[in-house]
Amino acid sequence: MNDILPDQTPSFQYLENRFQQVAKRYGYREIRFPVLEQTQLFKRSIGEVTDIVEKEMYSFDDRNGDNLSLRPEGTASCVRAADQHGLLFNQQQRLWYQGPMFRHERPQKGRYRQFQQFGIEAFGMAGPDIDAEVIQFSASLWRDLDLGEYLTLQINNIGGAEDRKLYAQALTAFLLSNVAALDDDARNRMHSNPMRVLDSKNSAVQAVLKDAPKLADYVSEASVEHYSELKRLLQLTGVAYVENPRLVRGLDYYNNCVFEWITDSLGAQGTVCGGGRYDGLVEQLGGKPTLAAGFALGAERLVLMLDSLGKVPESARRSVDIYLLVVGKQVVEQGLQLAQQIRDRFPDLGLISHCGGGKYNNQLKRAFNSGARLAVIIEGDGEEPVATVKIRHLDDSGESVSVEIADTGDKLAEILDI
Ligand code: HAM
Repeated sequence: MNDILPDQTPSFQYLENRFQQVAKRYGYREIRFPVLEQTQLFKRSIGEVTDIVEKEMYSFDDRNGDNLSLRPEGTASCVRAADQHGLLFNQQQRLWYQGPMFRHERPQKGRYRQFQQFGIEAFGMAGPDIDAEVIQFSASLWRDLDLGEYLTLQINNIGGAEDRKLYAQALTAFLLSNVAALDDDARNRMHSNPMRVLDSKNSAVQAVLKDAPKLADYVSEASVEHYSELKRLLQLTGVAYVENPRLVRGLDYYNNCVFEWITDSLGAQGTVCGGGRYDGLVEQLGGKPTLAAGFALGAERLVLMLDSLGKVPESARRSVDIYLLVVGKQVVEQGLQLAQQIRDRFPDLGLISHCGGGKYNNQLKRAFNSGARLAVIIEGDGEEPVATVKIRHLDDSGESVSVEIADTGDKLAEILDI
């Protein structure tokens, strides 16, 4: 399905590690849920008249005749799973997840039919402090990844469900009075989901929409207050934003504040992260009324950014730091002991100890191929234990030093500056 599988790359693993670190820093814990769900779950949450549900889901009947779908996103499944496991009843929860999502879109750079999301969902908090925290979480991640200066936060207030109902009525009435100028798509959506008409790519339809009622005029006072307070909190915590009144998001479950992080360093697929509040969803899916907010980021798009901007540090590309060459049958035991001592002293380093014997040159070749920075070489064929080892830089310099075996750890610490 994909021409690249970024979950195999060091850049993906770097993003994954950083995301998990930030999740821990903010007190979020992991939740896992299946890749397959009842199709109905997504219809009831994302909305029947959305691109995702209308055209993009991978759905099929299973042997029992149940209609199942590969998850196109994580929020609906997260709510279903959290509620079923009793995590939402009268509780506050901060949960994170990661994994593949599936949408039958036209593939291009940054847009895939199987893609990875990292997401967070916070339950049981009225906000807007939790909304600010959710956004801050993402801003912290960009800072850790050194991507802050390439990303812009866009926010909007789309009002409550009631506000949008009133607005939808007004919009439908407006569209009806201009029906002659609409295309088939707009006419089809006019009744079922009139707000989707606003996304029309047809310039004739867009011309009509210039005079359409504005959502902002229908947003309740409570919602405006919530939104103003969120903006104040963002300013207070130094998170810059741009207000975009056209930002509505492509999923129906949102209310009040929604947001997206956008970059222009990727070309077309510039949205790397999106989210907002969705206070009605838990109840809509059969749970007790539970306030909620969250976001999900597209890992492939961030990996593209990290790679093209050269933001993955060399150390993150390396899974192995030291390769121990064990040359000669007589030093196998000493080699194993030395490897263990180095691992015990430097638990954060990766050390591969060569197993299975072989000539020096072959072992050295493997050391280079491993990507390690240093080779430690223990070599001997006599009866007596060897007293010294060699430490060799695995670079073009070929620089090496001999040290007493007991001083190996100190010398490594000096060379690696740890
Ligand atoms: P979404 O905006 O549909 O929101 O997706 C979130 C992110 O996933 C997007 O910003 C984008 O980076 C990435 N993405 C979406 N589709 C693709 C694709 N075909 N290929 C590559 N990347 C893609 C959600 O999914 C909501 N569940 C977010 C949320 C969580 N809202 C509240 N909590």
